[in-house]
Amino acid sequence: MKKLIVANWKMNPKTIDEARKLVSSWEHRVSTVSGHVDVVVCAPFVYLPALSHYTQGVLIGAQNASWEELGALTGEVSALMLRQWNVKYVILGHSERRLYLGETDSMVNAKILACLKQKITPIVCLGEELTEQFHAVTKRLDVRQLEKIVYVYEPASAISTMKNSKPVSGEDSAKKIDQIRELLKHKIGRMPYNVRILYGGTVNKLNVHEYAKFPNIDGALVGAASLESENFWEIVKEFNRESIHRG
Ligand code: PGA
Repeated sequence: MKKLIVANWKMNPKTIDEARKLVSSWEHRVSTVSGHVDVVVCAPFVYLPALSHYTQGVLIGAQNASWEELGALTGEVSALMLRQWNVKYVILGHSERRLYLGETDSMVNAKILACLKQKITPIVCLGEELTEQFHAVTKRLDVRQLEKIVYVYEPASAISTMKNSKPVSGEDSAKKIDQIRELLKHKIGRMPYNVRILYGGTVNKLNVHEYAKFPNIDGALVGAASLESENFWEIVKEFNRESIHRG
């Protein structure tokens, strides 16, 4: 199974030009790792039209999607709309949205269903309350749907921009990822080998080895470091290197 490195740009960068430059800086290099690693950039909505032609190398994602397709929901954007901009992935249930915007598990659950309906892969974040959140956000999902999701273990306290943040160690994140795999196994009734489960929280070029060396960590969700071209690329390269090394 290929590794997956996801850039979560959050409400950055400042201009479309900067967004284009960042993606372009990776685009030509993605082919050198494409046998082992997929690279997704989750950009702010307004940058998606400018980035939507990167269909071969860098895959494009969004950071939210409504649970409805159309209708009276001021300020929201639906998965149906995102699909038209070549969006293949959407981050859902990020702890910043839970913390600052009141997003609940049942909203995340409905958003997952809306994305799957449009054939967009949800990248679902699970934090400190891993087990409870897992059960709540996967309600009403069948086996096929459960296997189409990318899961991320990302406690809010590990996010680089949080006050007094502290990344989870490689060893502890590998354990949590196993825990998610077990939860899935229980729900699906067999080992979910083709499901990718990532770690997120202060991953950067200096500490990436700590995570990439664990074979069960299928990739990373990267915030701050994904706004620096070289920093992000080093993360991609390290997962690629480990993946080749293991064969
Ligand atoms: P960080 O952000 O890499 O800056 O900690 C990760 C995230 O919030 O997804």
